[in-house]
Amino acid sequence: MVRQELVARQLDEQIAARYPVGQRLRILDVGMGQGTQALRLARAGHSLTGLESDPEMLRTAHEALASEPAGIRERFRLIEGDGRETGVHFLPGSFDVVLCHGVLMYVEEPDAMLAGLARMLAPGGLLSLLVRNGDALAMRPGLAGDWPGALAAFESDAYSPKLSASLEQGAPPSSLGLPVRADRLEDLTATLAGIAAPLQAWYGVRVFTDLVPNGEELPPADELERLLAAEDRAGRTEPYRRVAALLHLCGVRG
Ligand SMILES: C[S@@+](CC[C@H](N)C(=O)[O-])C[C@H]1O[C@@H](n2cnc3c(N)ncnc32)[C@H](O)[C@@H]1O
Repeated sequence: MVRQELVARQLDEQIAARYPVGQRLRILDVGMGQGTQALRLARAGHSLTGLESDPEMLRTAHEALASEPAGIRERFRLIEGDGRETGVHFLPGSFDVVLCHGVLMYVEEPDAMLAGLARMLAPGGLLSLLVRNGDALAMRPGLAGDWPGALAAFESDAYSPKLSASLEQGAPPSSLGLPVRADRLEDLTATLAGIAAPLQAWYGVRVFTDLVPNGEELPPADELERLLAAEDRAGRTEPYRRVAALLHLCGVRG
């Protein structure tokens, strides 16, 4: 919930900086999963296309969409497909915003996929990536007192969600417990520059609450608001944002 809420605030900020209020944007969500951001953006009036490779996830998304009002269903497309093959499904330049959240960690060679996503953007369009922070992998085992895990994490770009599979909300069941990739800010900055969607802004996501398991009950509303305010502040403040569990990178198509 903290992740989705922080990403929502950051995304709205980036959209508001680029597009007039009320403009209906064409948004592609690659690896949409349960579609938290996509549904939120559709409810805000935008046109959504969800691309998802897992038929089970897609079924869940269809069910969630079925309970939405007709107006939202009409401007929401769900497509089964691979985010590495967006060119098969869409014409270049056909979206204003492309989201790719929590997906890159499952893709072995992300650069080609990212180049494909950038091609889907119209000039000035926004590419929003949420990735596991490869520069801070020792934080989670370290804060949990797992010293061998922390020491190993310094040497690795792979991340194992074994601490608690439930921490990885929405992860495909096949990947739970298996090591997945993490990405480094410097590498992705270079990649984005190379695919004509240079980095414009970046945020840390989950600096203080990374060890809280998914099933944990939410605190009362006023405490939750303070928690989100502290996370939001840390996510945009040096040096805290650099050790966040996740990085939210925003590139803009030149
Ligand atoms: C951790 S979930 C994230 C879901 C959602 N984007 C979010 O942030 O809440 C990752 C999703 O990406 C999907 N996925 C993984 N690799 C993919 C690929 N190559 N193409 C399309 N979807 C993919 C998985 O099936 C899963 O639904």
